[in-house]
Amino acid sequence: MVRGQRSVAVVGAAQTPFGTRPESAPRLLRDCVREVLSSVDKGIAPADLGAGYLATLGFGGWQLGDAAALLAEEAGRPSMPTVRVENACASGGSAIRQAYHAIRSGEVDVALVVGVEKMTDLTSRRRRFWLGVSGDTEWERLAGLTFAGVYALMARRYAMDHGPLEPALAAVAVKNHANGARNPHAHFQKVITAEDHDSSPLVADPLRLYDCSPVSDGAAGVILARRELAARFTDTPVYLVASGGGSDHLALQDRESLTSLRATREAAQEAFRASPFLPKDVQFAEVHDCFTIAELLALEDLGLAPRGGAGQKELAGDTSLGGSLPVNPSGGLKAKGHPLGATGVSQVVEIFQQLRQAAGPRQVPGAERALAHNVGGSGATAVVHLFSR
Ligand code: COA
Repeated sequence: MVRGQRSVAVVGAAQTPFGTRPESAPRLLRDCVREVLSSVDKGIAPADLGAGYLATLGFGGWQLGDAAALLAEEAGRPSMPTVRVENACASGGSAIRQAYHAIRSGEVDVALVVGVEKMTDLTSRRRRFWLGVSGDTEWERLAGLTFAGVYALMARRYAMDHGPLEPALAAVAVKNHANGARNPHAHFQKVITAEDHDSSPLVADPLRLYDCSPVSDGAAGVILARRELAARFTDTPVYLVASGGGSDHLALQDRESLTSLRATREAAQEAFRASPFLPKDVQFAEVHDCFTIAELLALEDLGLAPRGGAGQKELAGDTSLGGSLPVNPSGGLKAKGHPLGATGVSQVVEIFQQLRQAAGPRQVPGAERALAHNVGGSGATAVVHLFSR
């Protein structure tokens, strides 16, 4: 990888509204593909698409085999080579990474990546099953540990190491809800206060309702193209300048730490090694805040906050819109919502809009460099992407 090479461009991006949606998964997929194709400024024809990547956990088992073929159908090019990418909650980021590598290898010129999930039409028992099979099934799920429970263990250990945590968790929730209130595609467009957070029901001590991302439906998509072709599609592409991936043990008990995700650290190191800029140059970030504690861990593992110092940054307002490093201007998973397969793609939709100065009332002024961070399950996999104008 040549340092600083801007070999891949994002030339189109769109998403459906996230939330409790009436549409089926195939319908969300169809609506999203239409919107992504029409988001390309100078237009794009089905024949321009060289490959398709569908990110979905297949929540509820809506179409476990060959779901990717639907992407080719909806794109108007049924013969397009497609593949489904399933990497738990990191499916979206992982699909973008596959497309990035295909374009960099020279095999593909233009790729369509769409993430979709339909979660809300399942009973809570079936939701627990489908969420549970994204974590360690042998030790954690069979012992009754939910994702909220897993992240609660991380939060407890973090509090033991770094002191009282609740004010910082509340700050993350309040900030992400404030941002979500400015995002017409967010699941929750509702401002909350720290008191709302502190008085919400405990889900898994110390995590409360407002520490959790919701169960959401939605789809998001992007079109990536070889840099030299970008001008055919738009005069204002966004460059995907580096990609990093990492993994760790699946079960929490096998990991070296409960308060740092090795998968994130390794993904970030790989991305920054290949990037023309450093963590200090990132101007805003979309990070994987499936629970508020996860945002703190992410900032530290990505090198955007000192170890044990992320809470202070949140409390000081540094991560708010208008702060020195806005985090999750979209509302994040917490408020924008978390339809698993769509989440990592939706982070890039936000970055595309922000770097083109088209994010409306949640615009990060003058932003030129951004980071996207997408985590699988309880942190067994992670993907980091870096972008510039
Ligand atoms: N944040 C804020 N409000 C939420 C919420 C959340 N995460 N989840 C639900 N609500 C609200 C609903 O909008 C509803 O409000 P209303 O009464 O004003 O209409 C109310 O809380 C009850 O909703 P309900 O769907 O019955 O909640 P629930 O108790 O079934 O689910 C959680 C709440 C936290 C258990 C559920 O959101 C959850 O499991 N989240 C985690 C999902 C997850 O693990 N994802 C993978 C992460 S790695």
